[in-house]
Amino acid sequence: MNTAQQRKSPGQLCPFTTRVQSMLLQKKPSVRLTPATLLYTGKSPDGNHLLRSAQYLHKELPVRVAHRIAEFRGLPFIVGCNPTILHVHELYIRAFHLLSEFPSIRDMETERQYCKMVKTLLDDHKDVVTHLAEGFRECRKHITDESLIHNFLDRVLTSRLGIRMLAEHHLALHQDKNDSIGIIATKMALKKVIEKWVSFAREQCELRYGYAPSVKINGHTGATFPYIIQPLDYMLPELLKNAMRATIESHLDTPMNLPDVIITIASNDIDFIIRISDRGGGIPHSMLKKVFQYHFTTANDDESVSDNGGAFGTLMEAVNQTTAGPLCGFGFGLPVSKAYAEYLGGSISLETMQGIGTDVFLRLRHIDGKQESFRI
Ligand SMILES: Nc1ncnc2c1ncn2[C@@H]1O[C@H](COP(=O)(O)OP(=O)(O)O)[C@@H](O)[C@H]1O
Ligand SMILES: [Mg+2]
Repeated sequence: MNTAQQRKSPGQLCPFTTRVQSMLLQKKPSVRLTPATLLYTGKSPDGNHLLRSAQYLHKELPVRVAHRIAEFRGLPFIVGCNPTILHVHELYIRAFHLLSEFPSIRDMETERQYCKMVKTLLDDHKDVVTHLAEGFRECRKHITDESLIHNFLDRVLTSRLGIRMLAEHHLALHQDKNDSIGIIATKMALKKVIEKWVSFAREQCELRYGYAPSVKINGHTGATFPYIIQPLDYMLPELLKNAMRATIESHLDTPMNLPDVIITIASNDIDFIIRISDRGGGIPHSMLKKVFQYHFTTANDDESVSDNGGAFGTLMEAVNQTTAGPLCGFGFGLPVSKAYAEYLGGSISLETMQGIGTDVFLRLRHIDGKQESFRI
């Protein structure tokens, strides 16, 4: 970040016209779609569905980005002036400018240009979670009201998830695949998705400790249903990483005799549940209230993000390629996963037996279930 950027204050970020335009759109409500709408809008051979989808984004994205800009402006001045947070604020203003200035989309050539811009924006914003984690950590000492920052992060991060899902859905509509429509996997095999992240998390543990706990999956292991894999790609590695780390660190004397991590899947006509049970010693009473707070962590500095060689730093590096940033040791795994689960109409809850282990329940609504699922 250059020094000119560092000297700016939040009020100086945006040209006057952009500011007026964004203030107008801040008052407009966002139009959130159900996954069923995304799934059943249908394909037309002439590509008309792509035009309609792009036109929806063209209207919707500036509104959503304007809402986020309003939130950045509402931060306490001292927090909003933090250079890292200011940088993210500026990214949103730039995105707003590009999205709101883009001409109407009436033909496929303009649609192609629009996709190109959206792809670039997705890439420019890929490290936003890391930046926010760093920025808020830097200015924590100035924050008296924890809930203000908690609510800000919940809203910015879930809205970011929604924007990215919509944008990636549109880009994916261009691909012709048998087993997906846009970002919706029409026959997602839940066990397979879990297995992918189990192998990944185990590999990372092996890199750091030289060994990893085994994992057993039981319950409705044959369940397949339509779902969006992308948010699972964030939540599952986070939860598995926590279970494996706890298992290893509570059995440092008996590394060759580690208890398994047991995953149970249940699927019914309203929702599906993934329970991850570990025998990692549980979470002490004194910490239980804090584990869902942003920045709460028991990771030492030497295994956190400041050391990229650390197992969990590496773990998050790899996760970063699909979703968030290298956040280990930032204490973002649980709070972000919880915010995502709730955004998707579900929940994350935790039952712990101090001295024995922890069960984490991830509960999510089906997108083709009997009740309306959630809106993106
Ligand atoms: N399954 C678990 N068993 C024991 N402690 C856990 C478990 N899951 C989370 N924790 C505790 O909660 C803290 C916060 O977790 P998280 O938000 O994922 O951040 P991080 O992994 O970066 O520390 C961890 O540092 C750990 O102390
Ligand atoms: Mg974690």
